[in-house]
Amino acid sequence: MSKSLTIRRPDDWHLHLRDGAMLRAVLPESARHFARAIIMPNLVPPVVTADDATAYRDRIMSTLPDGMDFEPLMTLYLTEATDPADVAAAHASGLITAVKLYPAGATTNSASGVKNFDNVRGTLEKMAEIGLPLCVHGEVTDAEVDIFDREAVFIERVLDPIRRATPGLRVVMEHITTKNGIDYVKSQSDMGGTITTHHLVINRNDILVGGIKPHYYCLPVAKREEHRLALRAAATSGDAHFFLGTDSAPHLDELKEHPCGCAGCFTATNTMSILAEVFEQEQALDRLEAFASLNGPAFYGLPANDDKITLTRGDPVNYPTKIDTADGPVTVFDPGYPLHWHVA
Ligand code: NCD
Ligand code: ZN
Repeated sequence: MSKSLTIRRPDDWHLHLRDGAMLRAVLPESARHFARAIIMPNLVPPVVTADDATAYRDRIMSTLPDGMDFEPLMTLYLTEATDPADVAAAHASGLITAVKLYPAGATTNSASGVKNFDNVRGTLEKMAEIGLPLCVHGEVTDAEVDIFDREAVFIERVLDPIRRATPGLRVVMEHITTKNGIDYVKSQSDMGGTITTHHLVINRNDILVGGIKPHYYCLPVAKREEHRLALRAAATSGDAHFFLGTDSAPHLDELKEHPCGCAGCFTATNTMSILAEVFEQEQALDRLEAFASLNGPAFYGLPANDDKITLTRGDPVNYPTKIDTADGPVTVFDPGYPLHWHVA
């Protein structure tokens, strides 16, 4: 007997769509399954002002293939020059759903990020006042902090102080990779946390043992197995703090398979099949809907989607190992085991 599961249409609360040829190639991969996504603003140059976000949203919508239904939820990239009034107007008009904080230098295209947090205090206070969430890339960038410790150190040195200094600010700790991050978010009432698909599947051994696997390299980098298990427990628990943010982050293969390879895993194509497999392994299929379709909209004060998708268990799913762009191929994340859940 084939098993099936019907859930409300999912959303992706952290997605990189890029621009131009890459946008054309990856947008249908997300729009096929997801109704909405929080769109990351780390283009070159970044999406900093309301005008930038309007233009980017228009480029996304004009790239969306006919017959596909998808709503990009736009964000602004917080810089030390961000104008609180521009942010407030972009929120009031419905243009933006969140503001994104990258510590300067933390990850791909983050050079314009924040160095001195005193210089963004006015914007953060305005956001707390108007109820606009801050999405945070939670890693310190200090050269002396080990890359595997950067998330845990960020919580103590940056995240907790910012939140204490800005009461009422709603914060999403994005792409959590540690038990420390899970425990911190769980203990706070005005916080959410996103968890990616790939961090539920790989630990740091998968990147490094038996030869380096550039397609498993992303930031924050995958941690020890105990942390992966904490992420799986949180995602499959149904706890309303935690929701899906794939952080699907496409880079051309030639830039991943490179002496200085880019960070990012491209998971848009097979995320829902992988998640169903993970939730089945954890005997938590009945909680997949909370993680992928309900907890995110609840945090953002948006309605859950009305339409539904059905996942059916059957023969292994044939998904492409790569997708083509006009500039070259992009490798689809390989979970390392067959996937049996087909999305209708
Ligand atoms: C992201 C990218 O490529 O834009 N890379 C990644 O490894 N996740 C940036 C980010 O979200 O850190
Ligand atoms: Zn990201």
